[in-house]
Amino acid sequence: MIYDSAPTRRSVLAAAGAGLAVTACTRADGDLAGRRGPGRHGVRQAGVTTPQQRNALVLAYDLDPALRGAEGVRALKAILREWSRALDAGRPASLTATVGIGPRLPARLGLPVPAGLRELPPFPGDRLDPAHCGGDLIVQLCSDDARILRRTALRLAEEEPLRPRWSQAGFLPPAPPGTTPRNLLGFKDGSSNPTPEECERWVWQGDATFLVVRRVHLRVAEFGRLATDRQEEVIGRRRADGAPLGGGREEDDVDIFAKTPRGRYVTPLGSHARAASPRLDAGARMLRRGYSYDNGPDDRGLLFLAFMRDPNLFVRVQRRMAAQDELSRFSEHRGSAVAYVLPGAQRGERLGAGFLP
Ligand code: HEM
Repeated sequence: MIYDSAPTRRSVLAAAGAGLAVTACTRADGDLAGRRGPGRHGVRQAGVTTPQQRNALVLAYDLDPALRGAEGVRALKAILREWSRALDAGRPASLTATVGIGPRLPARLGLPVPAGLRELPPFPGDRLDPAHCGGDLIVQLCSDDARILRRTALRLAEEEPLRPRWSQAGFLPPAPPGTTPRNLLGFKDGSSNPTPEECERWVWQGDATFLVVRRVHLRVAEFGRLATDRQEEVIGRRRADGAPLGGGREEDDVDIFAKTPRGRYVTPLGSHARAASPRLDAGARMLRRGYSYDNGPDDRGLLFLAFMRDPNLFVRVQRRMAAQDELSRFSEHRGSAVAYVLPGAQRGERLGAGFLP
């Protein structure tokens, strides 16, 4: 059976304990071509619960704006057929391609809008560059080899009615096998991702899901000048090992209600772990699969990529971050996109067969 496990700290530790192959960047022995799901076609796209590869390239395209209605549907089907073919043919090791539809496309083509697919609202503090936002089609390519990503992107861009809109490359720093990679602030990022069971509940909607992309510029030097304990107060976890501030291990959840004997919150009110806590969302979780990006000395940060069954979860967390999270002082959102990640396709079939019969 095709099955890959969510890239959680917990599952990776279990895999390591069981003697399975666990290579750099929390990569368990997983399937890269997709995963069996419960829906009508029974396949989910790879690149969601696939353990993270070393490199990512996110691409946004627009369909030729002259194409509308039935003509647009035909063009989109042809693109997805060609992409499915290109990706089926000799998929290099570790490459995943995850394809999503942007919020404006369905209505323009007269297709039903998948429930939950809509533009993200503006957030306080956003500094979005419209040239790096949105898109009719969003593709997340991931591979351990960055050259393969660029080669694959060139093949995808060959389709005639497509206009490249923006793209962003991302990377993970080398990390010892079975450990969570660190972001540019030097903190482990991804420690508290959902377990496979939690992904069933909170990430998948049948065999589909939603992808939220944010290019978050980070003031790395400014943050780096803070003393380590201040940095930890901002993040809400320990820098050295990623454990909650009250102690314990990296895989432990942050208890935002815990207090010190003197009555202060162990996890500060302004910390990121508090603003992002699933306890404030009735337990709802997103699967974060972010990468660092480096566009030169003036623009480095987090290429935030997260999958969830309802993009409103992102909206709620981001609103709390804007209101109370000290990390907002060290970050600036410059790019944004949301996409409906189509159910996967069996080998030889066209992606989006259920959505575009
Ligand atoms: C500003 C750039 C950001 C940085 C540097 C950052 C970094 C981190 C770090 C270091 C952690 C703790 C380790 C972990 O649990 O993975 C974390 C947790 C988390 N972050 Fe972020 N993050 C950023 C932005 C965001 C955004 C924009 C969101 C969503 C709106 C988000 C959602 C979360 C969630 C849901 C958690 C897990 C909370 C928990 O389950 O305890 N983060 N982040």
